[in-house]
Amino acid sequence: MRKLLLQLDSSRLPSVFDQVVAYDAGADAIMSYGGVTEGDVRDLIHGCIFTRGPRDLHNTAVWIGGSNMSIGEQLLALAQDAMFDPLRVSIMLDSNGSNTTAVAAVVKIEETVGDLQGKQVLVLAGTGPVGQRAAGLLARDGARVTITSRKPEQGDKARQFISARFDVQVDAVTFNDPVQLPEICQGVQILLNSGPAGVQMVPRSAWTALKSLEVAVDLNAVPPLGIEGVEVSDAGKQRDGVAVFGAFGIGNFKTKLHKACVARLFTRNDLVLDAEAIADVAREMVPQKR
Ligand SMILES: NC(=O)c1ccc[n+]([C@@H]2O[C@H](COP(=O)([O-])OP(=O)(O)OC[C@H]3O[C@@H](n4cnc5c(N)ncnc54)[C@H](OP(=O)(O)O)[C@@H]3O)[C@@H](O)[C@H]2O)c1
Repeated sequence: MRKLLLQLDSSRLPSVFDQVVAYDAGADAIMSYGGVTEGDVRDLIHGCIFTRGPRDLHNTAVWIGGSNMSIGEQLLALAQDAMFDPLRVSIMLDSNGSNTTAVAAVVKIEETVGDLQGKQVLVLAGTGPVGQRAAGLLARDGARVTITSRKPEQGDKARQFISARFDVQVDAVTFNDPVQLPEICQGVQILLNSGPAGVQMVPRSAWTALKSLEVAVDLNAVPPLGIEGVEVSDAGKQRDGVAVFGAFGIGNFKTKLHKACVARLFTRNDLVLDAEAIADVAREMVPQKR
């Protein structure tokens, strides 16, 4: 029986990147819908669950993507609401790659550091979809996480959202000038830059001066890179006594994880792969110190 993936994308044009990865992960055909809104979800999901019998439903799965994570979360909730036992298909949420990217970064940090309990983490520009997911997962690991934002209200809003979504406590600080770095980085052991493409957030002198720093991760692949002195292909390389990861160093694992998750969707009909479940898949793929 052919493996069919229903792609529900909130953006006008369904992501080609997501389609290519899904084919590479073993999907035989992808039914792509763009510009999907809340009112569309129920009937599209019913098209999946009423067509094949319960024993064959693991051959159909749903992918939720698009550029907006909060819309993606709403689509996921509605898709789950539209299903009932025994008529279910597995679903994955990865709006803009935010879940798989955040998870790849977090699991590489776990692999490097081991136990994150009590570790002090700073997530730069942690208000975006990737930073919020990463902050929540790191806090769930027991780390003391602070996110930064250029605007106090935005930082506080993201802090509240992360705390509610992941049932954790995170802090937020306002950061809009590198001169603040010595103060906001005091005692930081793990530095994760989730700022936008092409923006340098940390000059080299700021992180190399940090005696407490163990790991630095930069997710920005577009020059100028986010953490000066961390190269895009670094994957755990020691630089100035710090294990550093660049965007490709994380991105290579992210792509493997993305494929593994899509393949997993077709193994049963009741998986819901959001951040935490995707992290479980990732942890199976790497040796853990913890
Ligand atoms: N390696 C991979 O596989 C991979 C995959 C996906 C994404 N990424 C990368 O991961 C990073 C995070 O992605 P995202 O989608 O979460 O990011 P994003 O939403 O584009 O940006 C994150 C935050 O950056 C802040 N920001 C925006 N413009 C800024 C500027 N000029 N200077 C300083 N801060 C600014 C904003 O926070 P405030 O307004 O609150 O300050 C924003 O919420 C990006 O660099 C992206 O390219 C990597």
